[in-house]
Amino acid sequence: MTEKKATLKVDGHEALELSVYTPTLGQEVVDVSPLAAKGLFTFDPGFQSTASCDSTITYIDGGKGQLLHRGYSIEELASKSDYMEVCYALLNGELPNAEQKAEFVQEIKARAEVPEQLKAVFNGFTRDAHPMGVLLGALGALSTYHHEGLDINNAEHRKEVALNLVAKLPTLSAMCYKHSIGEDFVAPNAELSHAENFLTMLFGGTNSEYQVSPVVAQAMDRIFILHADHEQNASTSTVRMAGSSGANPYAAIAAGVATLWGPAHGGANEAVLKMLDEIGDVSNIDKFIAKAKDRNDPFKLMGFGHRVYKNYDPRASVMRESCHQVLGELGIQDPKLELAMKLEEIALNDEYFVERKLFPNVDFYSGIVLKALGIPVSMFTVIFALSRTVGWIAHWEELIGNPYRIARPRQLYTGSDERAFVEIDKR
Ligand code: ACO
Repeated sequence: MTEKKATLKVDGHEALELSVYTPTLGQEVVDVSPLAAKGLFTFDPGFQSTASCDSTITYIDGGKGQLLHRGYSIEELASKSDYMEVCYALLNGELPNAEQKAEFVQEIKARAEVPEQLKAVFNGFTRDAHPMGVLLGALGALSTYHHEGLDINNAEHRKEVALNLVAKLPTLSAMCYKHSIGEDFVAPNAELSHAENFLTMLFGGTNSEYQVSPVVAQAMDRIFILHADHEQNASTSTVRMAGSSGANPYAAIAAGVATLWGPAHGGANEAVLKMLDEIGDVSNIDKFIAKAKDRNDPFKLMGFGHRVYKNYDPRASVMRESCHQVLGELGIQDPKLELAMKLEEIALNDEYFVERKLFPNVDFYSGIVLKALGIPVSMFTVIFALSRTVGWIAHWEELIGNPYRIARPRQLYTGSDERAFVEIDKR
């Protein structure tokens, strides 16, 4: 980072010289951290202008529609790599060679089982409990197995945390689904690839002959890749914030799961399918577009818009292509896809969406692909969570493995001035 200077002049204060950092890629960043000592804070609700940390993991250029993990484009990773390689790169900084990859895959397979006693936790949830809530509970339970003796300042312990989480999330996620349909859990199978194993734990029965088709396994793997990381989004920032207090990393990941659940974030893929159901038919699109444009109507076009992308979300382009390929290869004629395509076309040509640079995001298509793979809608966000866990834990490692302070923002107080307490009988 080369250093430039910025001068800030605030009425009633001395002029302040602030450092300006030039990143490898992207916008320059003004270091406002000396302001507090000078009696000033910055105000940026929603963090639209705030870089909360420095990071080497993922880069997004929202204007160009570019997404890089460790410098590699998401398009290349999605077409030439696989999820295990992407996980390795996110966690270690480089793509693995063949030997490193084989070792990493074995390390993940060796940790896929969850403690026997933890399975009982699922019985505390009703069958219709939302799987994201169940996953949250299961992660809280898992944290208790890895608490005493876990030293987050020890790099080897942190590596174990990362491997454990990447390995166990598919197992826990599949258990959430099996619990919801009242079926026995299916144990992980080390003979299968990461995607095949997850699908088998999801759809296989203890005694069934379930076979995963290569098309389905590849599409699943691609979904894992496309959701693996996305720099300082709401859930990742939450994991970093929770981690900054020195919290148990499994609990910090649970905090990320809670944040991802919201419909403005990971919950959007589920919301897209519900919205397409609600729209029902191409003839209703105009009515719903009008609702989305009406400021007095809370309805938003789910799967459209992004805080950072002011161009096509590159993950959406890959997912769109994948969507057509999967539906074609599986011979599925999905009227929802036709509806989605028409909706996309109309919105992309509508002045409201054009002016605001609202493009489809990854969730617009991921829901349709997941549905084609036979994944129930309530599991969509769980699959996002299991894919994103590697990104969360890579960011947690980057935080804890370097000098850091507890994340403690300040505020612009607009409440009452100090006033005298009034006894209850006088109020
Ligand atoms: N439908 C209709 N209008 C929209 C939409 C939408 N999906 N998204 C944004 N707008 C409008 C806003 O109302 C606002 O209009 P205004 O300028 O007239 O007030 C303008 O576009 C700017 O939107 P903001 O709310 O400032 O955008 P912000 O960056 O805060 O929010 C977000 C981004 C949360 C993603 C938003 O676009 C949204 O809610 N989209 C739908 C949910 C969704 O698909 N989320 C998935 C995100 S991607 C992911 O997590 C993988």
